[in-house]
Amino acid sequence: MYCIIGANGYLGAYLRKAILEDTNEDILCADLNIPENSQERVTWRRCDITDREDVDLFIEYLKTLPDLKILYLAAYHNPDLVEQNHELAWNINVTSLSYFLNKASFAKEIYYPSTDSVYGESENFYHFKESDPLRPVNFYGHNKCAAEAILVHLGRHVVRFPFLISPSLAGKPHFYDRIVESLRNGEPFEMYEDSYRSSLSFENAARLTIALIEKGNPHPIVNVCGDKDLSKYDVGLQIAVREQLDPILIVPITMDKKMEGFETKRATSTLMDNTLLKETLGLEYVDIFDRPKYK
Ligand SMILES: NC(=O)c1ccc[n+]([C@@H]2O[C@H](COP(=O)([O-])OP(=O)(O)OC[C@H]3O[C@@H](n4cnc5c(N)ncnc54)[C@H](OP(=O)(O)O)[C@@H]3O)[C@@H](O)[C@H]2O)c1
Repeated sequence: MYCIIGANGYLGAYLRKAILEDTNEDILCADLNIPENSQERVTWRRCDITDREDVDLFIEYLKTLPDLKILYLAAYHNPDLVEQNHELAWNINVTSLSYFLNKASFAKEIYYPSTDSVYGESENFYHFKESDPLRPVNFYGHNKCAAEAILVHLGRHVVRFPFLISPSLAGKPHFYDRIVESLRNGEPFEMYEDSYRSSLSFENAARLTIALIEKGNPHPIVNVCGDKDLSKYDVGLQIAVREQLDPILIVPITMDKKMEGFETKRATSTLMDNTLLKETLGLEYVDIFDRPKYK
């Protein structure tokens, strides 16, 4: 049985899809707001992870379920908002997480999605390995480092994701959808050409995470990312081609031009090494959008 906490968001929606398609397991989903539509093998329960009474009741319920594999996604993760609200962010991202994990020792597996932001800046296109020192450049990155440490010291698992991008399945538009909408309206869309990530679709991030859990991954931390170094501009071009829209409308800009919603300092480029992921799962190639290729 899987349990996804924060299941109603972008990643949660793709994890639900991956579990339903790639396993025979049922899913218990928890979130602040839960959807009305129902789906076979999926049940929903409201839980606010910052509310101790809610969490205590939820934990008692979880104890009744067999062989529980928990994916803990609930977070306060917009870097600009985190920077403006340090105490609130720490309470949601670290204190509440720690309270939950301390009570969930009965769970068979617990996985936590972290981010490339823990590494900081990639100098000269360096690809960070899981064992590299962590040098986050903003408070969101520090929250994630603290959260990771709790998971690792409790013997649980962390997956580090890059910039994730896909059409939203979550009932709220994602950046991908904003790009597509703009191009469909014949409007230009500016994207950074000098900011690189080992970007991955939500779909592949979800598939590979479930594959790691099902395989019994022994590693406490795994970078789950694509093979290619992609600028945001490269990603925009790929989306235009995928959606049969005009790539000329994707306009390259450089990081010295500040965009709305990008006020807080971010690393210009953060690239990750996915050798451990590929060795663990027997993968040959991990594309941003195409299905991962196994050997
Ligand atoms: N997206 C990426 O590129 C990326 C990359 C690396 C790591 N991650 C990590 O992946 C996780 C999920 O990201 P996402 O993109 O799927 O974000 P998301 O769409 O915001 O999903 C998070 C979900 O958690 C819920 N939530 C927030 N506070 C909660 C609370 N107190 N109690 C219960 N549920 C709560 C949110 O509800 P509301 O929407 O109602 O607040 C939302 O449904 C986060 O930990 C994020 O840091 C994401």
